[in-house]
Amino acid sequence: MKSFCLPQDLILGSATSGCQIESGDKNSNWYNWCLQGHTKDQSSCISTCNHYQYFEEDIRLMQILNQESYRMSIEWSRIEPKQGEYCIEALNHYRKELCLLKKARIRPVVTLHHFAHPIWFEEKGGFYQKEGIKYFLKYVEYIVKELGDLVTDWITINEPNVYAVGGYYAGRFPPGDKSFLRFFRVSKNLVKAHILAYNKIHTIMSRKHLSSETKVGVAYHIAYIDPHTQSLYGRFIYRLIQYVFHDLFIQGTINGNFLFPSGGSQRYGQKGKKYCDFIGINYYARHFVKVSWNPRQFFGSIEFDENGHLNDLGWEIYPQGLFHVCKRIYAKYKLPIFITENGTCDEKDAFRAKFIYDHLYQVKRLRDEQVPIERYYYWSTMDNFEWEEGLKVRFGLIHVDYETQKRTIRDSAYFYREIIKNKAVTENMIERYLTTEERCLERLRKQSS
Ligand code: FCB
Repeated sequence: MKSFCLPQDLILGSATSGCQIESGDKNSNWYNWCLQGHTKDQSSCISTCNHYQYFEEDIRLMQILNQESYRMSIEWSRIEPKQGEYCIEALNHYRKELCLLKKARIRPVVTLHHFAHPIWFEEKGGFYQKEGIKYFLKYVEYIVKELGDLVTDWITINEPNVYAVGGYYAGRFPPGDKSFLRFFRVSKNLVKAHILAYNKIHTIMSRKHLSSETKVGVAYHIAYIDPHTQSLYGRFIYRLIQYVFHDLFIQGTINGNFLFPSGGSQRYGQKGKKYCDFIGINYYARHFVKVSWNPRQFFGSIEFDENGHLNDLGWEIYPQGLFHVCKRIYAKYKLPIFITENGTCDEKDAFRAKFIYDHLYQVKRLRDEQVPIERYYYWSTMDNFEWEEGLKVRFGLIHVDYETQKRTIRDSAYFYREIIKNKAVTENMIERYLTTEERCLERLRKQSS
């Protein structure tokens, strides 16, 4: 293991989303979904880290951890619990949180839609209906007008690809649909929603808040996919998955044109104009496409390498994948990159420090090769509600005891804190956090217990 330096201008922080940490929101579609028993451990987003109440303490912890930036979401279901009725209490709450972040010199990045939304919106058909775009834009307008004096960096939609697959093709997210046709329709509406929101945010920010620093983008889930097979059919399925899961969304939202079959040659934006100021990349793992001649499994299956290094959810940890993904995306779109999520679930904190080391090493390699990675956000600041997986898995830099709400900073978080302070991993740090005999023994003990 070797020491390395990171560029001084690389901004380092961590990320969360409201539904996953705030607790207590009964107007969210995810609350309903949990009530219907859809999480694997039967837990619910209603009771997580109580961040809505403890945000001051949490920001203090972020300060202790030297966080330079914090990616958070504003929950639409709190802001507009009933259609057209805005909740001033919720607005003031987020204002207070953003002010505190500013005071702590932690730069906020605000996500406007991170998987969850109001129940009324879901009941009206969500993004499946064209009107859904209109409702979303009204909410966006409200937030940007009211809070745009405190925020310059916006993410319109988190992982539109995962949202559309999860909710409309795989049935794992609300509303639980399993239809390829509905998946395409939602995808197209999400792309449109982003382009219109992009324009709206820029207009409001420049007119009302006189900000020329505004940055708007999307956080895409970009997986590193290996074809696993050289067969023609295997290569075809691999290309198809890349196209449907990645390209359709990335090209659509950046260039403003919908690819076939979402829209054929239909164009929503101006030719030549880009509708993202940066590309947000959420990167977690390597996947393999496995195909068989089974008509019921036309797309084959997407799997992890069981012999690889797996995290608590069985996802393969593959740091080089981050390098390949960023290289490919930058070569194609030539926009600055924010790594908007990268992290691992590791309940015993046995390999999180190594995970951070390995992935930041790839960031260094990328910067050495002139790929403009401007920011890196570890997922997640604290343990949280992991959607269908529930509360069982732990991604946090900070451990949360859900019974007592006690927060405890993990060892790996102290390692990350030192990286941020030094913009480097020194030999001392390697010795202290990654290789001392005592630590290795402790890690082995943890892994085998
Ligand atoms: C991403 C989501 C995020 C979190 C991580 C583990 O797909 O954007 O909310 O659940 O996965």
